[in-house]
Amino acid sequence: MHTLEVAALLSNTKAISPFITQAIGIDLSAKMISAYNTLSQENLLSENMSATQGDLLSPSSSTTDLFQDSKFFNFDIIIMSMALHHVSDTQLMIEKLHERLSEGGVLVIVDWLTMGLGGTGDGHGHQGGHGQEKKLPGSHTVAHFGFNMDEMKELYEKAGIVDIGFMEGIEKSKVPAEMGGEQQVFIAKARKAVRN
Ligand SMILES: C[S@@+](CC[C@H](N)C(=O)[O-])C[C@H]1O[C@@H](n2cnc3c(N)ncnc32)[C@H](O)[C@@H]1O
Repeated sequence: MHTLEVAALLSNTKAISPFITQAIGIDLSAKMISAYNTLSQENLLSENMSATQGDLLSPSSSTTDLFQDSKFFNFDIIIMSMALHHVSDTQLMIEKLHERLSEGGVLVIVDWLTMGLGGTGDGHGHQGGHGQEKKLPGSHTVAHFGFNMDEMKELYEKAGIVDIGFMEGIEKSKVPAEMGGEQQVFIAKARKAVRN
């Protein structure tokens, strides 16, 4: 099972490691890549799990050709965890990830449900929406204050991905007080259609 984790975090990969044979992580942050690769070496997973620094939406000169390599295509599973809210052009991101799935492959997005604070209430809220000026930790990197089911469905449908599923986290997660103290995650999934 060939797996891509965008916004790499080894604990996510480790959670699914019994079910996969290979995982590739991609993240913008050199620190995240280094942590992923160090942990994978410590856990003797480095042969099958490694991470590369880069952005699939705007590859640097060093990754433009790299990301065209066949190892960055035909994934059975792509997971993007807690990163979509950092991406400005979410539709383009979903389309780019869709391109990299194998037929029948599944794209999983884990992120926050739409947050009330600082958002427009339509899930596409930017910091300071509706005149709110309060700054949240790391808010300069946040493009969207969460998503709801209809928005995720629309993103997937516009990208032509099928078999859409959506579930909310069972329990709320503790987050800093500035973010409301509690937030709720969702898991959204969809499948690349198999051509006849
Ligand atoms: C909140 S962290 C989540 C990390 C981890 N996936 C997790 O589940 O805990 C968001 C991560 O998304 C990464 N990120 C944001 N935009 C990205 C992009 N376009 N491509 C790759 N990584 C991105 C950031 O570098 C950061 O490491």
